[in-house]
This record gives sequence, C-alpha cells and structure tokens, in this order.
Amino acid sequence: MPTILAVSGSPSPTSRTAAAVDRALTLLRRQGHTASHVAIRDLPPTDLLSGFRDTPALWNAADAVAQADGIVIATPVYKASYTGLLKAFLDLLPENALAGKVVLPLVTGGTIGHLLAIDYALRPVLTALGADHVVQGRFLLDTDIIRGEGAPTRLTAEAERRLAESLVAFTAAVDRRAAAPVPALALVASAGASR
Ligand SMILES: Cc1cc2nc3c(=O)[nH]c(=O)nc-3n(C[C@H](O)[C@H](O)[C@H](O)COP(=O)(O)O)c2cc1C
Repeated sequence: MPTILAVSGSPSPTSRTAAAVDRALTLLRRQGHTASHVAIRDLPPTDLLSGFRDTPALWNAADAVAQADGIVIATPVYKASYTGLLKAFLDLLPENALAGKVVLPLVTGGTIGHLLAIDYALRPVLTALGADHVVQGRFLLDTDIIRGEGAPTRLTAEAERRLAESLVAFTAAVDRRAAAPVPALALVASAGASR
C-alpha cells in the first residue's frame, strides 16, 4: 500500500488547515494507507530560518518526503498566496524532492476570491520541485472548518464530502503511479550503465 505524507504550513497553534489535514489522514488510514503529518510549525524555527538543511529535524522531514508516494501539501492562503512558513520548508528540500510523487494541494482561506492561489501560486512551486502529477487541489473556507468551544475542530458534512472526493482522486493517482512501469528515462540510464 503506498505511503502518504501531509505537510502543513500554517504557523497557527489552532490551525484550521492542520485540522483539515488530520481529518484527511484519518480518512486515508481507514482505507489502509500509512499516513503521517509533518506540521512545519513544529520544526525548529532556527533550522527553517538558517537556510542550512543539515540538521536532524530537517533530515527527518526531508526523509519523510523522500519515502512518501503521495504528498498532501496544505497551507492557508496568506496575502493571496501560500504561507512563508511553507516556502521556508520547501526551499530547504533537495532539488527535485517531489519527483516521482503525486501531490494533492489542500488550501484553506477566508474568501473564495483566492481559490486560484492553488493554481497561480502553489502549483508552479510543486512543479518546480519535480512533482510527477499535481492532482486538482481542494480549497476549504474558514466556514467549512468549525472550531468547537472545548470540542475538537471539525469539518462541516459538505466540506468533508468534498475532501473525501479529492482523496479518492488523489489515492487513485497514487495507486496508478505506484503500479506504473519503470519510466523510459530510467531504462535508458540503466542500459547506458550496463554497457
Ligand atoms: C496573515 C494572514 C493573511 C491572510 N490572507 C488571506 C488572503 O489573502 N486570502 C484569504 O482568503 N484568506 C486569508 N487569510 C485567512 C486564512 O487563510 C484563513 O483564516 C485560514 O483558514 C487560516 O488557516 P489556519 O488556521 O490553518 O492558519 C489570512 C490570514 C492571515 C492570518
């Protein structure tokens, strides 16, 4: 069964985005996937700001990315784009860190007016990192994610239905990718090596 990693980039300790990610991971685990969550706000801030990737916390996070078949990249919209926290992390990943992976963008925002941040801001970065296939992203509004007084944060039933729909398309793409034959370029490289 392919492995799924979610990376979330909100600096908030009561993040709606992280709550949506945790719900997505619960749904994925119910399908039998191994699924884990790296919340970037839990990584040491000095590591993220130093621009120096050789620290244990960043190795572990980069290794989790390397081991995953499918990655959920989750962020709130900040100033019509993704967060600086997410960018700080993505900048420290090795070149082509998303090569061979299927990626689901999961974005939360205060207004539907910034829905296109998925495709205009986030998607180009994921492609630059070599993502094999970035599936259609899912946008959730603040009003889709309900912070309860003393109760766990939850999604509305309609938001949960839309999230589940995205996860079906995402896991189908991850499964197809995992079952795909070795890419032609890898065959050419191995033929060259055996000469
Ligand atoms: C600094 C900041 C900037 C924001 N900028 C936008 C924005 O440009 N467009 C938008 O739709 N929402 C914006 N929001 C609202 C957040 O995207 C929204 O509340 C989101 O659900 C927060 O997710 P979080 O709880 O995971 O941090 C902004 C919020 C903050 C704190």
